[in-house]
Amino acid sequence: MKVTAIKGFADILPGETETWQFVEDKARAVFELYNFSEIRIPIVEKMELFSRSLGETTDIVEKEMYTFADQDAKGSLLALRPEGTAGVVRAYVEAELYQTEAVRKLFYLGPMFRRERPQKGRLRQFYQIGAEVLGRGDPFVDAEILLLLRDFFEIVGLDGLTLELNSLGCVQCRPRYREELLVFLQEREKKLCANCQRRMSRNPLRVLDCKEETCLRLTTDAPSIHKFLCKDCETHFGTVQELLHGTRLDFKLNPRMVRGLDYYCRTAFEWTSSRLGSQNAVAAGGRYDGLVEDLGGPSTPGVGFAMGIERLVLLLGSKGAREAGRPSLYLVWVGAPARAWLFSLVHQLRRRGFSVEMEGEAKSLKSQMRRADKLRARFVLIVGDEELKSGKGILRNMNSKEQFEISLDRIEEELNKVKGFKG
Ligand code: HAM
Repeated sequence: MKVTAIKGFADILPGETETWQFVEDKARAVFELYNFSEIRIPIVEKMELFSRSLGETTDIVEKEMYTFADQDAKGSLLALRPEGTAGVVRAYVEAELYQTEAVRKLFYLGPMFRRERPQKGRLRQFYQIGAEVLGRGDPFVDAEILLLLRDFFEIVGLDGLTLELNSLGCVQCRPRYREELLVFLQEREKKLCANCQRRMSRNPLRVLDCKEETCLRLTTDAPSIHKFLCKDCETHFGTVQELLHGTRLDFKLNPRMVRGLDYYCRTAFEWTSSRLGSQNAVAAGGRYDGLVEDLGGPSTPGVGFAMGIERLVLLLGSKGAREAGRPSLYLVWVGAPARAWLFSLVHQLRRRGFSVEMEGEAKSLKSQMRRADKLRARFVLIVGDEELKSGKGILRNMNSKEQFEISLDRIEEELNKVKGFKG
């Protein structure tokens, strides 16, 4: 009986992996330009890391995490990471990265896990490319990471994305907004969905994130957070907007965007695409100035984002499809002595950086040529007993179909002289 993969857990197969590599390589290149260093963090963490940083009343913590008992610590739960920020901040605090450098610009790539209902662009194991800047609270860095994202989208050839921007205020001003919003919601409480009713008093902002038709309708006139921002948050938000205007990065203000995670304060953003259906966010993030301290570190501001690779790949379609690797040379042999001679040549050439392929089992010349064609090899070298004796093989250019003799001693040197061999 066949064993199949789990729903929401996808294989990424050759043919698709080329686009994934294209996206990952371009992201690495952009991170390098912006002076980010890579960080690799575990996939499994203590569950409390996520409940403490993302918030107890978020969808992720309430119902989407993959958790399991820690066999080594009775009563403790472990979780597959649903996102990267919490782990990065945990690592930052644990390794005391703030001791050696005041500002850390970190990026990461890898799988995340959320038990959501799978659909187009939404998986249970999905991959993020994320970045976090720790140690800078100024609005310039908020604008900088948005510009980094714009550069990345441009480099990979993605257009038509919309940037939505909001400020979520801070510990000073948000409580007043929260209260005001709660009063507004209480007047409509009975009509809200059961989920919102349950979470409303603990975290009224969550209601603005509810996708239920009725809740959306009931909260159309909800008070806007923008009217409640304190002086500092207003200045910060104003500067981010000015910087974006100054660099011609268009955005739409969306005072309802509260994001699905509780660690955010001040700047929050989402890049969306109308071509993705309901799962339209390609990249999202924001500021989280209290998180480092909440996780036991010194008071340190933070800001970052993550983008979903599956969604980037969906949008790129064939545009991102990089040509799959093709061998420079396919070695065709006739007879065991030629096979032995070519077998050592394969390794010699690979060690020199050429992609070379050959068959091991006895196959007809025709079948070996077919294989070379299938692999889209650029050249074929044919060697049999005759050629070994004369010291001259036959080299065929698979594009032009030209064929000529090539000296087998000093073959490497000879190949290097052939037009088009080095790609
Ligand atoms: P997030 O909005 O939960 O933020 O996820 C960021 C991106 O990951 C989304 O915009 C989407 O592209 C992708 N994504 C999320 N869930 C799925 C899924 N189930 N299937 C496919 N793609 C998905 C965060 O995770 C924050 N840690 C971002 C951040 C970093 N904020 C500050 N620093």
